[in-house]
Amino acid sequence: MILVLNGPNLNCLGTREPGIYGSGTLADLEGLCERWAGELGTSVQCRQSNFEGQLIEWIQEAEAAGFEGIVLNPGAFTHYSYAIRDAIAGQLLPVVEVHISHVDAREEFRRISVVAPVCRGKLSGFGFLGYRLALEALVTAP
Ligand code: DQA
Repeated sequence: MILVLNGPNLNCLGTREPGIYGSGTLADLEGLCERWAGELGTSVQCRQSNFEGQLIEWIQEAEAAGFEGIVLNPGAFTHYSYAIRDAIAGQLLPVVEVHISHVDAREEFRRISVVAPVCRGKLSGFGFLGYRLALEALVTAP
């Protein structure tokens, strides 16, 4: 079972800057993740929070809760949350960082990821498909 975590503002997918993030909603994305997980022979639990501390607690508790890996889109926390980085580094599950948009092709501040060095890998710029690729990576190359 894989934990899919979406961070701040991703609850607004569909209406939030659709030119950048597309018109699909968070519910659409979570439905796709459930379907893709089934196709890959696993399952997912999807959660979203706008709160840094909540994301940290979910990361801390994931292994004990029986998850085998984490797909994480930390939203803007990606660029400055040392606390989320430390939470990832402090546990043993592989974490794949995902971004819907191509963060390296956007504003300068989005090119910095403080979580990338402690993640298994990173997918950025492939829209919702990045979540499928991240699930596939966790299943085949954890
Ligand atoms: C994002 C990219 C971040 O820079 C931004 O703050 C987000 C979404 C993405 O999925 O493309 O909230 O993580």
